[in-house]
Amino acid sequence: METLIPTINRLQEVFLTVGAEIIQLPQIVVVGSQSSGKSSVLESLVGRDFLPRGLGIVTRRPLVLQLINVAPLKERLKLDIGNVETQNTQNSYPGVKAEEWGTFLHCKNQIFSDFQEICREIEAETERTSGDNKGISPEPIYLKIFSPKVLNLTLVDLPGITKVPVGDQPEDIEAQVQEMILSFISNPNSLILAVSPANSDLATTDALKLAREVDPDGRRTLLVVSKLDLMDAGTDALEVLLGRVIPVRLGIIGVVNRSQHDINIQKSLENSLKDEQAFLQRHYPSLASRAGSRYLAKTLSKLLMHHIRECLPDLKTRVTMLSAQYQARLNSYGQPVEDQSATLLQIVTKFASDYCNTIEGTARHIQTSELCGGARMCY
Ligand code: GDP
Ligand code: NA
Ligand code: MG
Repeated sequence: METLIPTINRLQEVFLTVGAEIIQLPQIVVVGSQSSGKSSVLESLVGRDFLPRGLGIVTRRPLVLQLINVAPLKERLKLDIGNVETQNTQNSYPGVKAEEWGTFLHCKNQIFSDFQEICREIEAETERTSGDNKGISPEPIYLKIFSPKVLNLTLVDLPGITKVPVGDQPEDIEAQVQEMILSFISNPNSLILAVSPANSDLATTDALKLAREVDPDGRRTLLVVSKLDLMDAGTDALEVLLGRVIPVRLGIIGVVNRSQHDINIQKSLENSLKDEQAFLQRHYPSLASRAGSRYLAKTLSKLLMHHIRECLPDLKTRVTMLSAQYQARLNSYGQPVEDQSATLLQIVTKFASDYCNTIEGTARHIQTSELCGGARMCY
């Protein structure tokens, strides 16, 4: 079965062709208290290690992470040397010989194909505006990750909610961070991932409190309960995960990210996902299929699909209109004098109606893939 990625790529092509705004997928924003595991959750969604994580305040500027789907290197190389017409198109990236790479807005021409270097550059750029003593800055770092394995999607990593100023932080650090977070999540096109650690009081979670300020009905907030592995002996999060403590409309998903020790010994993301699944099977057997990082990615992809489906009727109307316009123009020309011009118009008309069919096909496909439980989001 096809995955979500080619479907959305095709749709975005259609949107571009009919001159519509490119399909606005919701941007996913992580919100939570300091060290709740926000950066860890984002990383597992992307499937690569590249975000600075750790104890204390590590994320000190917003990071706007734009994932861009590109053809695999093999295909891009073919495009480079082959057809002149396809050279320099958006998906060919001539000259980039990496399968996956990143670029920053603040040093546009530098290609980062080593993800550890991306991580170091985020740290260096954070220090540039926020100093090296725990200061924060609302000025975002813009990072693009190009890969055949990602969806065209924007994720935002934010500094955590914090109460007591440390280091160079201003007296009103709490208010400043809150304002920074609100500026991102008040955008109605943001999907809010509220991250709360299971080893703190979930009923009073700051993340959900902030989310509710901008999304009182909970239409775009998902609760992620992290650190299930760090709960006190004899306690578990079952009641919370079942929604009996605080109901969350879009769902509550428990995860186990890598611990600081795991980070120190450079445990791979793949092994971490395996261990997470084993942990869930052991401690939450009845919920294991509805918890974990993979399930979170799946849930997000379903939410995205749902959003796209809501955009489809409008897209179809635009294409039909365009097609009718061309048809009317074609009719107004009467019988063509020159064969060439007729052929051209026919091509354009056929092109528009073909796209109509593509959209219908895609809509059907989306329905089918939802029935099958949705495609995986990023990996
Ligand atoms: P952020 O400040 O919210 O972005 O949190 P980070 O992702 O930087 O994580 C903070 C610290 O908590 C790091 O040392 C992580 O290794 C650790 N951590 C995050 N999630 C978990 C988890 O689910 N289990 C355990 N044991 N540690 C975690
Ligand atoms: Na942290
Ligand atoms: Mg962080």
